Amino acid sequence: MKNYVIIDKIKSLKGTISAPPDKSITHRSFIFASLANGTSKIKNYLDSEDCNSTLSCLSNLGAQINKTKDYVEIKGVNLTNFKQPETILYAGNSGTTIRLLSGILSATNFISIITGDDSLKKRPMKRIIEPLTKMGATIKSNNNFPPLEIHGNKLHPINYKMNIASAQVKSAILFAALVANVPVEIEEPAKSRDHTEIFLKYLNQNINIENNKILFSPKGSFQGFEMRVPGDFSSAAFFIALTLISKNSEIIIKNVNLNPTRAALIDILKEMNANIKILNQKINVGGEPVGDIKISSSELKSIEIGGEIIPKIIDEIPLLSIIMAFANGTSKIKDAKELRVKESDRIKSIVSNFKRLNIPIKEFEDGMEIKGRPNLIIEPTEVESFYDHRIAMSMAILAPRLKSNIKINNINCINISFPTFFEKFSELVNQKNFFSFF
Ligand code: S3P
Repeated sequence: MKNYVIIDKIKSLKGTISAPPDKSITHRSFIFASLANGTSKIKNYLDSEDCNSTLSCLSNLGAQINKTKDYVEIKGVNLTNFKQPETILYAGNSGTTIRLLSGILSATNFISIITGDDSLKKRPMKRIIEPLTKMGATIKSNNNFPPLEIHGNKLHPINYKMNIASAQVKSAILFAALVANVPVEIEEPAKSRDHTEIFLKYLNQNINIENNKILFSPKGSFQGFEMRVPGDFSSAAFFIALTLISKNSEIIIKNVNLNPTRAALIDILKEMNANIKILNQKINVGGEPVGDIKISSSELKSIEIGGEIIPKIIDEIPLLSIIMAFANGTSKIKDAKELRVKESDRIKSIVSNFKRLNIPIKEFEDGMEIKGRPNLIIEPTEVESFYDHRIAMSMAILAPRLKSNIKINNINCINISFPTFFEKFSELVNQKNFFSFF
């Protein structure tokens, strides 16, 4: 098991890479395939720890799964034929797995228990317990934290106003409605990622979206499908950041999902003066927009962000905070309290590492303020991942701005979302052995 990595200073980045497959869409494709009538084939799926947690739970529930290097084939249970699992379902580190599957488990006719690792056991579940209970399920928990004991029931329609913008909560309700075959009306305070809605449309389900309101009247059973998962914007974003803060660099990242509820970071970066161009945009099978992103070294200026854009960049805030440290002026992020309940308390993790890196930062309950310096050089330092994949990778993008090297502890967590991170990184850097694992 990799414990820590030492990364040396890199000079520049050049070349073309493909983005790894999208994590959110991989989860959803596995779940929809398991609910389909017949067999589905998912190509270019993300083979990461989080997505494997979803697969193993689905297998324990009775989906027949054949996983190969190139595709995952799943024979679905036609909505209602999941069987009571013989073991406790284990979602590992994955919030998406526990929250989305809880929706489905609520609509079964059996009792099941789902839990996860130490990080997941600290993540709030009241946000799904409340709507699913209103739909008729009974859910026992450890004071609103996992493990969850879910007593499936015959669910009824709801009209639900969410008080946080969360794709996981919205999707839990949509999956519950799909399996129970009952209509739901959901309202979000701000739009969060809409992959579940796009997937439901692709499957010819009856879903209408008006601003932040979703009306879903399930049509029942749907056939198995074949699809190719597009590239993950959140993973591509690490290399966008790397290139922007490097000198004499230019890269292209191919086949990235550009869904506006995911890729809003591009708008923020353009406002910061970033050199970013979108090429070859088209619609992927499955209804998601994809394209290539061309990025060049940039002289960045500071920005203040908050409000409705935050849910659309929530996973990219750790790497955005690094970009802000090299932008001219003081940047501010507010309305991002959700960061405190991700795989780690990401505000705390960023602030703690920035203090070690000697980057001026102020912590707020819902965000932070970062004083950027375009010529900042990072002295040799040791930083922590806090067992959080996105924090580990955000620290790695300091590589072009190091005096000599940086040590990042507990980097094994990168396998949660991006097991090929260092391979892709090497493809872009014309230097040998610029990182070593210990
Ligand atoms: C995800 C939704 C987001 C995101 C997470 C993946 C999803 O969480 O942070 O990494 O696949 O639905 P919330 O919906 O809780 O904000």
